[in-house]
Amino acid sequence: MNRSLTLATLALVASSWTMTTASAQTAAKGPDPAIVDRYMKSTFGKAPPEWQARIEPDETLKTCNAYHNDVPSAEADKIVARELARVVYPVDGKFLGNWKEGAKIANNGRGGQFSDPPDTVSGGNCYACHQMEQKEVSYGTLGPSLTNYGKDRKYDPEEIKNAYTKVYDSQAVFACSNMPRFGVNKVLNEQQIKDIIAFLFDPESPINK
Ligand code: HEC
Repeated sequence: MNRSLTLATLALVASSWTMTTASAQTAAKGPDPAIVDRYMKSTFGKAPPEWQARIEPDETLKTCNAYHNDVPSAEADKIVARELARVVYPVDGKFLGNWKEGAKIANNGRGGQFSDPPDTVSGGNCYACHQMEQKEVSYGTLGPSLTNYGKDRKYDPEEIKNAYTKVYDSQAVFACSNMPRFGVNKVLNEQQIKDIIAFLFDPESPINK
């Protein structure tokens, strides 16, 4: 009787020790990535087939994930080179569209949701992370302020091209950027990106006033 009680106590102690160790390990290492992946996949059940493919991280995201976005410079160089090769520049060589349209796109956070009607045109949601027009008081600060963006860069054609590259594929400029890759991921089309670039660079745009 006494002996079996001792054994039971020992078993209890042992099991609680194992549990403590396991949860300590979870806390140290974070959740098991396989469990997180399974959960993510399960939430994409209703998504259309072309979205299903997006659950798989591409080479660039895999590298960024592996380093928690803090990539060594050799890996960063590889990412920038790979992403730069994916940027499609306008065949007409013109980077500037209509700034008024660009202003609307920058302010539009719709699109990319399961509940959207099928013909929903996605916006850029730039204000979620950037200050742009000075009169707009509601904006996020994850990214730098883009107020006076064109004026500060003297409307330099090289800067205009760089901004197009940045919006088309943020990681072609900065590896593991937090900014979406709007062109590569087909969130915005070429004309929309041109309109956004005009919003940044047209001297008449309220961004530069
Ligand atoms: C989820 C947040 C997020 C969104 C949305 C976002 N950006 Fe960014 N953006 C960033 C961050 C963070 C940086 C700075 C780090 C970097 O370069 O990636 C940045 C940098 C930039 C830069 C370079 C700024 C410089 O220092 O010269 C430009 C231009 C830019 N964003 C434009 C846009 C435009 C236009 C949109 C909308 C179509 C947009 N961003 C949407 C986060 C975002």
